[in-house]
Amino acid sequence: MKILITGTSRGIGLACAKKYIAMGHSVIGFDIMESAFSAPSYTHMLVDITKKLPDIEGVEVLINNAGIQDGPDVIDTNLKATIAVTEKFAFQEKIHSVLFMASSSASNGAEFPEYAASKGGVVTYMKNTALRLAKYGATSNSISAGGVYTPLNAHIMDDPSLMKQCLDETLLGRWADADEIADLSYYLTNINRSMTGQDLLIDNGEQLKSNFIW
Ligand SMILES: NC(=O)c1ccc[n+]([C@@H]2O[C@H](COP(=O)([O-])OP(=O)(O)OC[C@H]3O[C@@H](n4cnc5c(N)ncnc54)[C@H](O)[C@@H]3O)[C@@H](O)[C@H]2O)c1
Repeated sequence: MKILITGTSRGIGLACAKKYIAMGHSVIGFDIMESAFSAPSYTHMLVDITKKLPDIEGVEVLINNAGIQDGPDVIDTNLKATIAVTEKFAFQEKIHSVLFMASSSASNGAEFPEYAASKGGVVTYMKNTALRLAKYGATSNSISAGGVYTPLNAHIMDDPSLMKQCLDETLLGRWADADEIADLSYYLTNINRSMTGQDLLIDNGEQLKSNFIW
């Protein structure tokens, strides 16, 4: 299948690119950064998703992964550009599945204000696309991760005391690896046929964590 993934130079996007290639698909990656990764079935394109998008025909799986955490461009990047990418590449006959990287903050609000708002918008937009993509027989879902070990969180991972505080917030005492998110992405887009319009929380029990006092 022809897979388009945004934000493939590192982190979750890179793990997804490697996963889909390992499963025999061809991947086009958009990123503002160069990629150190190369493979015969991988095409890296220097594209800023907030700007003019290139023309690509016949995308079968679209993974909206590129995102930033803070600063003045959060809504433009995480929400407006994600909508622009989806409207341009998803609504055509070849489309099989669309996936969005939302965030656990979409449901609990516990992040930078614009980040949480942008991801809440992504989840609602995902549901909107599920309704409109059904006529192509395509699914649309989102993944809402809690902490994932990626360069986005380098400042936490480099600080043992901050890292411990974050892990103590979770029920399982751990964060997810980017590979786990890539595996779940693959399931949702290429194995799943009946789940659509759903947001999947993968947060090591962080939102569930509570104590029973008796
Ligand atoms: N890491 C986490 O803990 C976590 C948790 C929940 C959700 N997420 C979401 O998952 C997605 C990936 O996160 P990550 O941790 O891999 O981040 P990351 O910062 O490691 O990687 C993001 C990639 O997106 C690219 N990118 C940023 N702006 C872009 C633009 N305008 N155009 C094209 N590419 C752009 C970056 O250059 C980078 O390669 C993001 O949407 C993030 O919000 C991450």
